[in-house]
Amino acid sequence: MKKLITASFLILTCTLLFSQNKTALYKNRTAPIEERIADLLQVMTLEEKILQMNQWAYGKNDNPNNYESKIKDLNPNIGSLIYRSTDPKYRNFIQKKAMEESRLGIPIIFGFDVVHGYRTIFPIPLAQACSWNTALVKKSCEIAAKEAWLTGIDWTFSPMVDVARDPRWGRVSESYGEDPYANSVFGVAAIEGYQGHKLSEKFTIAACLKHYVGYSLSEGGRDYHYSDVSSQTLWETFMPPFEAGIKAGAATVMSGFNDISGIPASANHYTLTEILKDRWGHDGFVVSDWGSIKNLIYQGVARNPKEAALKAFLSGVDMDMVDDLYYDNLPTLVAEGKITEQQIDDTVKRILRLKFRLGLFDQPYVDELDEKERYLQPEDLLTAKALAAESMVLLKNKNELLPIKSHYKNIAIIGPMVKDSIHIMGFWEGKGRPEDVETIHDGLIKEFGTQLNLHYAKGSDFDGNDTSGFKKARQAANKSDAIIVFLGEKRDWSGENGSRSTISLPKIQEQLVLELKKTGKPLILVLSSGRPLELFRLHHEADAIIEMWQPGTTGGSAISGILSGRINPSGKLAITFPQTTGQIPMTYNMRPSAVPKSGHYQDIPAEPLYWMGHGLSYTTFDYSPIKLSSTTLKKQDTLIAQIEITNKGDRAGKEAVLWYISDPVANISRPVKELKYFEKKNIEKGETTLYRFEIQPHRDLSYVDGNGKRHLETGEYFVMVEDQKVSFKIVE
Ligand code: BGC
Repeated sequence: MKKLITASFLILTCTLLFSQNKTALYKNRTAPIEERIADLLQVMTLEEKILQMNQWAYGKNDNPNNYESKIKDLNPNIGSLIYRSTDPKYRNFIQKKAMEESRLGIPIIFGFDVVHGYRTIFPIPLAQACSWNTALVKKSCEIAAKEAWLTGIDWTFSPMVDVARDPRWGRVSESYGEDPYANSVFGVAAIEGYQGHKLSEKFTIAACLKHYVGYSLSEGGRDYHYSDVSSQTLWETFMPPFEAGIKAGAATVMSGFNDISGIPASANHYTLTEILKDRWGHDGFVVSDWGSIKNLIYQGVARNPKEAALKAFLSGVDMDMVDDLYYDNLPTLVAEGKITEQQIDDTVKRILRLKFRLGLFDQPYVDELDEKERYLQPEDLLTAKALAAESMVLLKNKNELLPIKSHYKNIAIIGPMVKDSIHIMGFWEGKGRPEDVETIHDGLIKEFGTQLNLHYAKGSDFDGNDTSGFKKARQAANKSDAIIVFLGEKRDWSGENGSRSTISLPKIQEQLVLELKKTGKPLILVLSSGRPLELFRLHHEADAIIEMWQPGTTGGSAISGILSGRINPSGKLAITFPQTTGQIPMTYNMRPSAVPKSGHYQDIPAEPLYWMGHGLSYTTFDYSPIKLSSTTLKKQDTLIAQIEITNKGDRAGKEAVLWYISDPVANISRPVKELKYFEKKNIEKGETTLYRFEIQPHRDLSYVDGNGKRHLETGEYFVMVEDQKVSFKIVE
């Protein structure tokens, strides 16, 4: 009773103090953020603090008639909402409640999964990485941020930088491929795109690096499963993109669902507090994944919700995404002395810090523009087209079948993807709408106009065993000079919980190809998928193959431009295509085998079908030998590696150069090669362009051990580009 009276007295005093002082320091936009936080914290009650640490999902029903009734039950003190509506007025309406009805006027931070676009949908991140064009990736995130901000979203749960290791795992579509460096570079580009120069500016939103850490090693590619991550692999493969993202100023981090070798990512003091917050100095906050605090019970490290909340909190998870475990249990845990109010304050500080940085206290509302002005602006669609085009990878082009010859008069366009407007957007399609999508069919009609007769037949569905469409497909093929078959995966065959036990196309789609092959016509295969596919049985049947991925709103135009030759393909794979599912795991940066040239399979080749980095062009690029500024250097020196590339073909083209380093002998065995730098440039026909890689030994030649400590050894190294390999030495 005494406690209660003291608490009530305190609240009363705070309220009085507060109302006497309408211009409290924390409301003064010119005061330093840390002072504003301290000022606010000292007047907050424990309940108000704990509410800041919770996130609820909201806004599915955004019919204006329902605003009042829906919002009635919403606690205005809630820290964050996942905002699913597309209506900025509704968001402002909710924010007004927080500002006016909460005692202290603390704004809500609205989050949403803006993963590869909000309404203008860009290619899936895996495809974006194949563009090797960081400027375009950054620009796409800027556009996504603008569309999201104009809806009232302050925070996106992106980028995902879980280095892809197993293409059976559906979430490889959300990653930037199999290489840690590529994930770092594109992750940073995404953060810069979302967050702009200053979070408080219009059109910028906070980024969230996810899923920290090791999630992509989910056993057998089964989502949400255990991941067995050695400390060496953790540091070498999974940590680098997170560390780079934190250095680039990522506002928040999401703790993963996975169990890292027995200690779940959402209860992992080592990764969340010792590394992320203490070693890397992250001053933003960690949000759990959807229900990942409650999952600690299923993962076998907590007996009940209260223990799960305690473990997550003490490990460093600051905000509870949707499962209410903090809301329900933290007050008791504080009362029992298991958590101190000081610890709560440290967490709440982090959340308030972002709200101040976003300028939410000073400008809590967003503009309420018309839908036409918010989304799908013509110049943004051009960026989407450019990124879609640069993401697509020409895998095979026998006898230069592509681009489509000008003397062709009839082309058969066959397959379940041709008229699709849903699966082409991929998983996490934000608020993308099928009616905004330019289908492949629309794109081809625009591209070829009356110049070509296009004979369409669906042929088959994505799956099932209905072959009744084969006949029409054959008839279309028989009338044509060449056949283009558009096959692929449905939207939810990848993405979250989108694992597949085999990465091949369903049998019906393979049968369709074999059926069409019987016509003897040249056959072009265009694939749309959220992962690499097993092409073992199809590869020899097709004369040309393009992986178009899931290219988003403008995919139809981009693929049509590549087929016609208006666009010269320039994508290169950011992930290896194994021969078969049985070859997984298969990544270019594997460690050397104990018995060279051995360890192959009895039934399939040892090499994958296409390594990361593979991708063809319609022109020919001639690489000069690599030139080094020196062949020996000291650890603190810089080495310049250069090559010249000449465009020997008859059209301009963009060429991405991927620079690798190999360290053949080290105290901890190194991968056979590691990507350290890449650059993409346009080269006009007949022109020669210089590519340059400045090798800084501490940055590019050192390696981490299982404690995250860097080592740089003397000895021989190689710099590699395509099939060239040149040696140099580091000396004392
Ligand atoms: C996913 C996250 C996502 C979150 C919020 C979870 O299920 O794993 O990637 O950000 O939901 O939608």
